[in-house]
Amino acid sequence: MYAKRISSLPPYLFAEIDERKREARKKGIDVIDLSIGDPDLPTPPHVVEAVCNAAKDPSNHRYPSYDGMLTFRKAVAAWYKRKKHVSLDAEDEVLTLIGSKEGIAHSAFAFLNHGDVALIPDPAYPVYGNATILANGIPHLVPLTEENEFKPNLESIDKEVTRKAKIMFLNYPNNPTAATVEKSFFKEIVDFAREHDIIILHDNPYSELTFDGYEAPSFMAVDGAKEAGIEFNSLSKTYNMTGWRIGFAVGNPEILKGLRLVKTNVDSGAFQAVQIAGIAALTGPQGGIKTNVETYRERRDILIDGLRSAGMEVRKPRATFYLWVEVPSTFSSIRFSMFLLERTGVVVTPGVGFGENGEGFVRFSLCVNAERIKEACERLKLFM
Ligand code: MLT
Repeated sequence: MYAKRISSLPPYLFAEIDERKREARKKGIDVIDLSIGDPDLPTPPHVVEAVCNAAKDPSNHRYPSYDGMLTFRKAVAAWYKRKKHVSLDAEDEVLTLIGSKEGIAHSAFAFLNHGDVALIPDPAYPVYGNATILANGIPHLVPLTEENEFKPNLESIDKEVTRKAKIMFLNYPNNPTAATVEKSFFKEIVDFAREHDIIILHDNPYSELTFDGYEAPSFMAVDGAKEAGIEFNSLSKTYNMTGWRIGFAVGNPEILKGLRLVKTNVDSGAFQAVQIAGIAALTGPQGGIKTNVETYRERRDILIDGLRSAGMEVRKPRATFYLWVEVPSTFSSIRFSMFLLERTGVVVTPGVGFGENGEGFVRFSLCVNAERIKEACERLKLFM
C-alpha cells in the first residue's frame, strides 16, 4: 500500500519515543521526560498578545504570501544584523518557513535528483537523512566522533563520494552532541563547499542557547558563505515557540529560490497572525532569552552534578539544552534507555536513534523544571 520511499524510512525517532512514554504512563509510571527538546517555558507574553490581536484582523485570515510577509523578513534581517552581524536583503535573502523542520525537509526535494548524494552528519537530527531518503537521494553518513570534537573530518570523506555530493547538512551548536564550533570551522566548510560544488544547508536553531560566555557564530557570518549555502533558524527554541511552527532560511538567493519553488507547490505559507507574533518576538524585548539561558544553565549544572554522583561521565556543554552522555559499556543505548524508563520513569533519547555513531550515548534534554531534574537524579542514583 505504501510507496517504497515510506517503507525504507525508519520510524520517526520522537514519534517512537512518544509511544513508549504513553505505554509507561498507562502502566502508572511517573514519567520524567528528558527526551525531546521542547521548551517547557512559556512564549513571552507580548508575543502571545500579538498573535491574539492579529488573529482578530480579517486581513490575516486569507492566504499569506509564499515568501512570507516582507515585514517578517525585514525583522529577520534586522535580527541577523543585530545578533550575528550578518547583512541580508530581506527581499531575496530571507524566506519564511512553517518551522525550520519544514524547510530542511523540503530542501532535499529542491536539490536532490534520484541517486544524488547528501552528506549527513552521524549522529544528527533525523530529518536530514530521512528527507534525503524521501527525495530518493542517497545519504552518505559522515561520522561525528568524540576524538574530533563531534565535527566532520572532511579529509576522510571518500573522494568519489565528495565528487558526487550535491548537498551537505550541518548543525552547530549541535543536536544531539551539544558540540560547538568557532567561525574558523565554518571557513573550512565554505572552502570545502566551493572546491567541490556542494550546497551547505546549515541548521542553527540553538544559536541563542549558549552558556558561560560562548557566542555561537552564524554560518552566514563567514566570507563566502552566501555563495556556498543557506542557514535555517527558528523561533522555536529561542522564544519557546515550538508549537507555533515559524522559522526561516537565510542566505544564497538562488538556493532559497529552489526551496521556494518546492514550497509554492506543497504549502501556502505561514499564518500571518503567527508571522506578526514572530515579528513581536524578533523585534520586541529580548530579556526572555537571557532568562531562558539562565534557567537551562541551572538545570544543566544540576543534571551534570546528579549524573556525576551517579557515576556517569559528562562533559559540560557550552550550548543547547542537551547533554550527550556515555552509557555504561555493558549496555546498548536502546537497552539503557529502556531500562531507565522501566526502572526509574526517566525518559532519555537513545543515541543510536540519531545514527549508528550515536551508539554508546544517550541524550538528556533540559526541558523540565529543576525540581523534576533533581528527582530524576535521585532515581538515577538509586538505579546506577
Ligand atoms: C529534538 O528533540 O531533537 C528536537 O526537539 C526536535 C526538533 O527540533 O524538531
